[in-house]
Amino acid sequence: MTAQRLVVGITGASGAVYGLRLLRRARALGVQTHLVTSPAGVLSAHHELGLDRKALEAEADFCYAPGDVGACVASGSFDAAAMVIAPCSMKTLAAVAHGLSDNLLTRAADVMLKERRRLVLMVRETPFNLAHLRNMTAVTEMGGIVFPPLPAFYLRPASIDEMVDDTVERVLALLQVSGAQARAWQGLRVSS
Ligand SMILES: Cc1cc2nc3c(=O)[nH]c(=O)nc-3n(C[C@H](O)[C@H](O)[C@H](O)COP(=O)(O)O)c2cc1C
Repeated sequence: MTAQRLVVGITGASGAVYGLRLLRRARALGVQTHLVTSPAGVLSAHHELGLDRKALEAEADFCYAPGDVGACVASGSFDAAAMVIAPCSMKTLAAVAHGLSDNLLTRAADVMLKERRRLVLMVRETPFNLAHLRNMTAVTEMGGIVFPPLPAFYLRPASIDEMVDDTVERVLALLQVSGAQARAWQGLRVSS
């Protein structure tokens, strides 16, 4: 990443742990994080991780209220090379797909697309309806990257933590964070 600055959004989809571990890993890699957590994101983090807004925000370098549309990350002049929404709800996906910048999180994502910077959406829902699929297509057409956090079983993760960390590392590598090292597939050894 040119500037080691990352905007992170956490929304109310299941999988708050992805946002949490991503913030921790980014910090370990020396990346400055700017966090926006939606109210539903706080609800989900509390339900799934037992963390309140304060505890979650302590994992980031800078935090903003979702209603603070005047914050620095709302502008293309702010030098952040990339943004990830981890996890990304279908509601936020829809807002991003339609350029609906109704809060700071969706505005920051809109900025990434308009500035042609990297935007990764860790979308989570199952199964998908046609609106979800169309919205993912629209975001992809605009240059965003749709990255559902699906486990790579071929890496044989030994625990859920390892599974989550493998996914987080791949996302950080995709965001071009220097030092991120996604575990590489070494190929199958087939005995003949
Ligand atoms: C426990 C819980 C789990 C949820 N899981 C998902 C999910 O996996 N995907 C999703 O799109 N919405 C999920 N939702 C619904 C979203 O939180 C809801 O649509 C919310 O309005 C999203 O708002 P946000 O995008 O501003 O965070 C869940 C809600 C709750 C309470």
